[in-house]
Amino acid sequence: MAGSLRQWSLNRALLRAAAAVAPERITVEVFELAEVPPYNGDLDESLGGGPDPHSVRELKDRVEAADALLLICPEYNWGPSGVLKNAIDWISRPAGSSPLAHKPIALAGASPGPAGTGRAQLALRQNLLSTKSYVLQEPEVQLGGAGKLFDEQLELIDEQSRELVVQQLDALAEWTQRHARAAA
Ligand code: FNR
Repeated sequence: MAGSLRQWSLNRALLRAAAAVAPERITVEVFELAEVPPYNGDLDESLGGGPDPHSVRELKDRVEAADALLLICPEYNWGPSGVLKNAIDWISRPAGSSPLAHKPIALAGASPGPAGTGRAQLALRQNLLSTKSYVLQEPEVQLGGAGKLFDEQLELIDEQSRELVVQQLDALAEWTQRHARAAA
């Protein structure tokens, strides 16, 4: 999932690129966050509220079913966008045994500025310690100056970036298999 709702979002474009370049053994399914409402404990089924909003139920079910997650993280004010953090907050309940617990996750992001979402990814890593997720360390996908890496249709045209995305997906698959073997 990507933490932006914009039609011309660089991060949603990066997610589409990951789905397009994924090696044959990996299927990237896109989940759009537009329908996920702001977190509200009164609607949180796992806390005895609820029922969960339909989009939240679907989100949690899809995360539960996925072997691994690719979180594409816009940087807002040196942190992850509210859209992505909000989704993480919904999925993170009940604490300790949520669909994020022990889930292999890779982080990626793109920004027009030079930082390439590195600061947002660092903050998100901290959030994902709380959820007991297994976040891949490298390769890091932090695409700075991203305006130049995509064409007018928002296709990722920079060859080095495309290769980096493939390398990260391969590493995520290996990371996922390693954790599955350890749990068996
Ligand atoms: C930004 N942007 C931004 N960029 C960055 O590198 N570091 C930052 O701290 C911020 N902060 C920030 C705050 C807010 C409220 C906005 C709207 C934007 C710029 C941001 O990276 C840029 O708009 C991206 O294009 C947003 O991602 P999408 O929507 O293109 O995926």
